[in-house]
Amino acid sequence: MNFSEKIVCKRRMRFPLTMYLIIFVSASVVFYQYHLSKAWMISHNNSQQFRDLGASSVEKGANYTYYASKNIRQAEPFSINNPHIPPLYIITPTYRRPEQLAELTRLAHTLMLTPNVHWLVIEDAQRKTDLVTDLLERTGLSYDHLLAPMPEIYKKKKKGPKPRGVSNRNKGLNWIRQNAKNGVLYFADDDNTYDLQLFKEIRYTKQVSMFPVGLITKLGISSPIVRNGKFDGFYDGWIAGRKFPVDMAGFAVSVKFLLDRPKAGMPFKPGFEEDGFLKSLEPLEPYELELLAENCTKIWVWHTQAKRNEPSQPLDFAKYNNTNLVVLKHILV
Ligand code: UGA
Ligand code: MN
Repeated sequence: MNFSEKIVCKRRMRFPLTMYLIIFVSASVVFYQYHLSKAWMISHNNSQQFRDLGASSVEKGANYTYYASKNIRQAEPFSINNPHIPPLYIITPTYRRPEQLAELTRLAHTLMLTPNVHWLVIEDAQRKTDLVTDLLERTGLSYDHLLAPMPEIYKKKKKGPKPRGVSNRNKGLNWIRQNAKNGVLYFADDDNTYDLQLFKEIRYTKQVSMFPVGLITKLGISSPIVRNGKFDGFYDGWIAGRKFPVDMAGFAVSVKFLLDRPKAGMPFKPGFEEDGFLKSLEPLEPYELELLAENCTKIWVWHTQAKRNEPSQPLDFAKYNNTNLVVLKHILV
């Protein structure tokens, strides 16, 4: 083989290699495009599903799709929406205080990582707080923002504990009665910490499920007791003659189970809200509870309780006029 023949031969060898490269790159581009459009369709279908459930307005569906098409939700592995899983209705009471926005931001970002959630945020207030409205809009979540002020008789109470979050939760229950057909409801106070695994598990509650809640009383936990794989009572620092001595964050209820009990509701009885609500779900006996979190051996939720902050001190508007501090002061409590 002379020199010119060698060159021709090398070119022949290089030609198929270049072709392979071109085919590989084009196939990758096509596959990536297909993947993007499929992800969009899944999110789009999900918003359609919420409309079918009557759980969200057309406007909300559009809003959801808007975020989906901007690939915000697809950015996280947990956010892939699966229209074949039951919806979760999260009832969150909230009220204006220095920690409110921080608490709601944390909970919102947890829920943004959870598929098929409809968030019911219910303010103990006469008017909706703009900052809460803005936060909800920015999450891209399917939600309803409702009001349920604490009745005046309890609000005026000078002595002893007040029934916190009760009117809010009852409002949420009414909303579910009017709008939901299936799925599961869960009372998620704004100040707790939630593991995503909790939402994965409670979604399949058939009647009423229960699981441990960390950071409760001196015992450090509130949980059903499981002996030989079976329910054997409750471990809680404050039993107080309750049939269900559990925390609000320690149980989930099937929507159908609630709908079959039209009288069920939460009493305005401080300390006995959980017990009163669970008793109102009769017929329901503790041994029938579905024990989650690997037979109650895991903690997927904590009663964190943020440190209480004093309201912020007044701002010297004369001194700081025309600065960012004027805007910030309007956000602060
Ligand atoms: C504990 C339980 O975790 C609550 O679910 C239960 O309602 C409460 O005890 C009770 O027995 O009264 P705790 O941490 O002591 O809760 O109460 P908060 O976190 O202050 O309030 C519970 C929920 O109600 C929160 O989501 C909070 O934002 C809301 N809330 C509180 C109001 O909507 N209005 C209020 O005036 C106070
Ligand atoms: Mn709390």
